[in-house]
Parts: sequence; structure tokens; C-alpha cells
Amino acid sequence: MRPAIRSLLAVLAAGFLLLTACPKKEEVAQQQPTATTTTGEPASTTASPAAATEKLISVTSAAPGGAQNLAAPPRVTVEPGNPTDADKYYTAIRAKLNGFPKPTLQESTVEDMLAYFGYGALRPSLAEQLDPAGLMREGVIPGVKVGDILCTRFFAPKIINVGAPQGAGGVPKGGFGWRKLLRLRALDGSKARTAGLDAFYLLFNVNSDTPVFPKGKFAGQIQGILQPVYRTSHRDLYFLVFEAHDAKVPYRVRGYLEATFDLVGIGENTKYFVPIACAQCHGSVIAEEKGAKVNYLDSDHWIDRTGDDFKAVKPESVIVDGASAYATIRKLNEGIRTQNEAVGGKGVFAWLAASKWLELHDATGADATRHVPPLRRGFVARAGDRNWSGGDAVDAELLPMLNQYCYRCHSSVAYHVFQKQEVFDLKSEMSSYVKFNAMPQDRRLDEATKAKLIDLLSRLK
Ligand code: HEC
Ligand code: HEC
Repeated sequence: MRPAIRSLLAVLAAGFLLLTACPKKEEVAQQQPTATTTTGEPASTTASPAAATEKLISVTSAAPGGAQNLAAPPRVTVEPGNPTDADKYYTAIRAKLNGFPKPTLQESTVEDMLAYFGYGALRPSLAEQLDPAGLMREGVIPGVKVGDILCTRFFAPKIINVGAPQGAGGVPKGGFGWRKLLRLRALDGSKARTAGLDAFYLLFNVNSDTPVFPKGKFAGQIQGILQPVYRTSHRDLYFLVFEAHDAKVPYRVRGYLEATFDLVGIGENTKYFVPIACAQCHGSVIAEEKGAKVNYLDSDHWIDRTGDDFKAVKPESVIVDGASAYATIRKLNEGIRTQNEAVGGKGVFAWLAASKWLELHDATGADATRHVPPLRRGFVARAGDRNWSGGDAVDAELLPMLNQYCYRCHSSVAYHVFQKQEVFDLKSEMSSYVKFNAMPQDRRLDEATKAKLIDLLSRLK
């Protein structure tokens, strides 16, 4: 997979060089407005219809008036998917959910999914509003034992707009982003358990204009993941999106996530549809989302970002429920690492990254409930691989930049910036994408920053 993508991108970068060097109107017009390619094929602008459902990488012109703007490089972005495929997907996966309370997923709500997993007594609005301690306490929800529900709230830089200038007081366009995550174990005797499902991850995305978690506010967007018992006839994960509490039909399943934040490069109000957009960022680019992973929770990265893009947020506001929440995040990451191993094995970067977090934040260690700085967080796949070192002048400057500008995607898409060997192997591609503004895709770097990144990459040893 990787080499195919890499060569495709190399072709794209080369093609772009030719375009700029020798501008011909027709060629540029072909790039416009959306040229899509399938992985492994040459970067042709005509994807065959048969391949359309399998398209993995979208290449669009960066500037609105792209045809005239020869300086606009191609943009390689997360593939947003489309409504028809989302609908087909829901119909296909409904067939796998034996005993689900509604005939179709499309007419169901969060309430139905909670009931399916054995949590009929938990109303969606309560799941949203009760604080984690309340949700996790024995006896609050009838039949639910300690450990069945894990819940944590955190500052979520990855859902914040970094492309548009910030307003007064450092408030990002669209506000600060926060997440509340619940992991609900399929209760014994529940229909979901009988159908071979193991857990329901329910994720609430809330925004605020103040740099603290907005208690009492309902989520603007809600996402879900269903995790099966491995390996049965189930797909590796199921992805869902739900309407908000304030929608016409509260909490009903819908096909897409409104994600202006990650897709700023390809226009406002762009939608991410299930399952393809989700799967890409959750570690799978192949049919039926094979190998799709639950993403580990990186508290260190969330805290890092209060020191660069989001200085208005205090580091102590990031983990909303304080030091005691680390115990919950640890349990969540243990489950996530086990999931990553079940679908990808121990060598995959997702598993390595989750393992590193767990090692650094071991319950008995000095940093059990503390932030660990970037240069101590590098990891390797094999003994002898390169690793980041605080003692190296290039590493010390480069890693924080990659962490700020690339980590958002490259901690779950294609490679992980904390795995130095991978960065080293990709450094020339990284430089060309940065040079031609093809990466990062969620903001435009100024020339000085680009020059610095390229220089550091060229000196990486
Ligand atoms: C741009 C990358 C990206 C895209 C696209 C994306 N996710 Fe995620 N998702 C993440 C990351 C990273 C996390 C970990 C939480 C965090 O850091 O905020 C996450 C967390 C989650 C979680 C909580 C469990 C976990 O994996 O940690 C759910 C549920 C979820 N995403 C569902 C979805 C669904 C459904 C879609 C598609 C509609 C989707 N995601 C699209 C990156 C992405
Ligand atoms: C908002 C998301 C996002 C951000 C931020 C981002 N990228 Fe990417 N990048 C992608 C996607 C999507 C791909 C396509 C990979 C795929 O489909 O597997 C990609 C691919 C790449 C590749 C090719 C990977 C391979 O395995 O061949 C390189 C190199 C790259 N990006 C460099 C960068 C650099 C350097 C930065 C930061 C300066 C950056 N990217 C920031 C989304 C992003």
C-alpha cells in the first residue's frame, strides 16, 4: 500500500513541477476541479467508474480560480466520500447487526444503539450531560457495573480550524474544540453481545468560544464506532454519525460529519461521509475498511498544542477532569492497543504509538499523570531504527514542527511523525510537498516556516 501511494504522490509532485515549468491551459484545465486517482495506478485524471467506490486519494486544485492559477499545486486530501456510498454502507452493515431494534440504521438513533448494547436505561441526553464520574459510578445506570462504561473529556486540537486567522483573545474560527468520549462494553445478554459485538464508542464534539470545556452545552456533532469481537464475520470496525440533540430528529443516524476544520483546503462546509473518510483516518484504505483502527488518545499531543497554536488554552484545562482522568485514559488506551493488535498486529505504527503512550504513562511511573515532552516520545519498530533525540539539534527543532503541522493527520494516516525512521525515509517527499504547498493540507505555511522545515529535513540524520 505505502509504496504505491508514495509513487503516486511522487508522480503528482513531478506532474506539478512540469505544469508550473511549462504552463499549458488545457493541461491545467484537466486538473480541475477534481481529479481522482485510484491507488497503484498512474496519476491519470480519469478514474474508471468501476474504480470509483475504491478511490482513496483526492487531488484537487488549491485555489478557487484554479484553472487560471498556475501556482496552485495539487492537494492530496482525505477522501470525503459521498451520500450514495454512505447509504449503501449503512444498508450493508445493518445486515450484520442481528437483533438491532430498527429495520434500518438510517431510521435509528443513539437511543436504539444504546439499547442494543444493553444500556436501554441510559438516555442519550444523559450520556451527553452526566459527567464522567457520574457515568462510571456503580448503580447510576441500572445493571451497569464499574468498568462497563469508560468516559473522559478533553481538549481536541484536531477538530479546530487552523487555516483561518484567530479572532480576539486567540479564539479560532468556529471556536475551541472539545470531546467527550464514552466506551460502552456490550453488556452480557445484550443483543449486541449475542451478535458478536464488543464495544460501542460514542463521541461528542462540542465547541466553545472560551478556552475551557463548555459544561452543559450539547454537542454539535456526534460520531460512533462499533467494535466487534475479533475475528468473526464482522468487518473490523463500523463507523456511524448521528444528528445532534437539537436536530429535528435528535440523535438520528446520518451519513456525514460536517468537517470544515480538516477539509479547509478543499472548501467550506465540506462533508466527510461514512465509511471512507472515517476509515482513512482510522488506519484503513482498503475494501470493507479492513484493518480499521480505534485511534489512541494522545493526551501529550493535546497539551503540546496549548504551547503553539492555542496559547489561550491553559495546559491544565486540557484533561477536563484532572489527574484522576489518566486512569480512565489508560484503560481506554489499553483497549485501543488490543484492538490495534487484533486488526493490524504488533508492528503497526498505531500499536507502537499506543504502546509508547502506555509505557510513558505507566500507573506506577513518575509520569503517570503528567505531560511528557515530544523528544521523549519517539518510538521504533525495530532495534537499530533511528529515534528522536533531545540531544540532537536538528531533532530538537524539527520534531516540534512536525508535531504542530503534520501530526494531526500523520499520527493515523500513512505514517506517524514520532517514528523517526519513517520520517527519515520519507524526508525528500516531505520536503517537496511542503515546498509546493501540497502539505500540510489544513493551513498555508508562510515562506519562512517552509524554508525552515525543508532545511531541517535536509539535515536530518
Ligand atoms: C482527519 C482524521 C480523522 C477523520 C477524517 C475521522 N477521524 Fe475519528 N478520530 C481521529 C482521531 C485522531 C481520534 C482520536 C481522538 C482525538 O485525538 O481527538 C478519533 C477518534 C474517534 C472516535 C473515538 C474512538 C477513537 O478512535 O479514539 C470515534 C468514535 C471516531 N473517531 C469516529 C469517526 C467517524 C465515524 C468518522 C467519519 C465520519 C471519523 N472518526 C473520521 C481522526 C479522524
Ligand atoms: C489534514 C491532514 C494532513 C496534514 C495536516 C498533513 N497531511 Fe500529509 N497526507 C495527508 C493525506 C490524506 C495523505 C495521503 C496518504 C494516504 O492516502 O494514505 C498524505 C500523504 C503525505 C505523504 C506521503 C506519505 C507516504 O506514505 O508516501 C507525505 C510525505 C506527507 N503527507 C507529508 C506531510 C507533511 C510534511 C505534513 C506537515 C508539514 C503533512 N503531510 C500534513 C494528510 C495530511
